[in-house]
Amino acid sequence: MSINNISKEDIINAFKYRHATKEFDAEKKLTEEEINFILQTANLSPSSFGFEPWHFIVVQDQELRDLLKPVAWGAPLKLDTASHFVLGLSMKAPMTKWDSEYIMRMMKDVKQLPEDVIEMYSKFYREFQERDFNLDTDKKLFDWASKQTYIALGNMMTSAALVGIDSCPIEGFHQEKVEKLLQEKFDVDTEKYGLSYMVAFGYRKQEPAHPKSRRDFNEIVTWK
Ligand SMILES: Cc1cc2nc3c(=O)[nH]c(=O)nc-3n(C[C@H](O)[C@H](O)[C@H](O)COP(=O)(O)O)c2cc1C
Repeated sequence: MSINNISKEDIINAFKYRHATKEFDAEKKLTEEEINFILQTANLSPSSFGFEPWHFIVVQDQELRDLLKPVAWGAPLKLDTASHFVLGLSMKAPMTKWDSEYIMRMMKDVKQLPEDVIEMYSKFYREFQERDFNLDTDKKLFDWASKQTYIALGNMMTSAALVGIDSCPIEGFHQEKVEKLLQEKFDVDTEKYGLSYMVAFGYRKQEPAHPKSRRDFNEIVTWK
């Protein structure tokens, strides 16, 4: 396995190349291998306690994409032109609470932890939720899960940029209305999952209208 054959310059160039693509070239599609590569970087992303509180829906059906337009003001042009359009869902309280069935299954079946370690881990996880992070409402638990799902977002967009694929993250939607739609038309159990973001992948139609603007490096970093 080789993990050090990409130069730092190449990586920084990929970060500079990535921009929030407003319109994609509708004729240029990602291959199945390319979209699976991107999704795999989500799958391999880190998460708190390693509980992976996410799910991704790849929306390729144009009729379903069209249904999203009226409730997602930031998305219409991407829904029409992106090669692949992904919904980043995060788990809600019934899935992520320390004693949920899902958490138990993760520890037992996915992580294959022995009983005594599960007991110890559960206690620790409970204290983390109830004492350390004060995750005492459904909203707080969902937002905490969302934080993990955003790590996967960053990884997907960066990996895409590294192989020359464009992307656009999208939060321009009405959360409640989209969730109603997800329940009615996308078979999503919205008691268990909520939408954190949408993200479109494809190839840019044109170069960005504006050069990248960022605050000065020294303004965002403090050394002590
Ligand atoms: C969480 C998040 C949500 C965003 N939502 C939208 C959106 O709904 N529509 C859109 O066109 N751009 C959206 N953007 C893109 C940002 O406007 C863009 O990343 C920012 O202006 C910096 O520009 P750059 O990504 O091209 O460097 C979003 C970005 C992030 C990280």
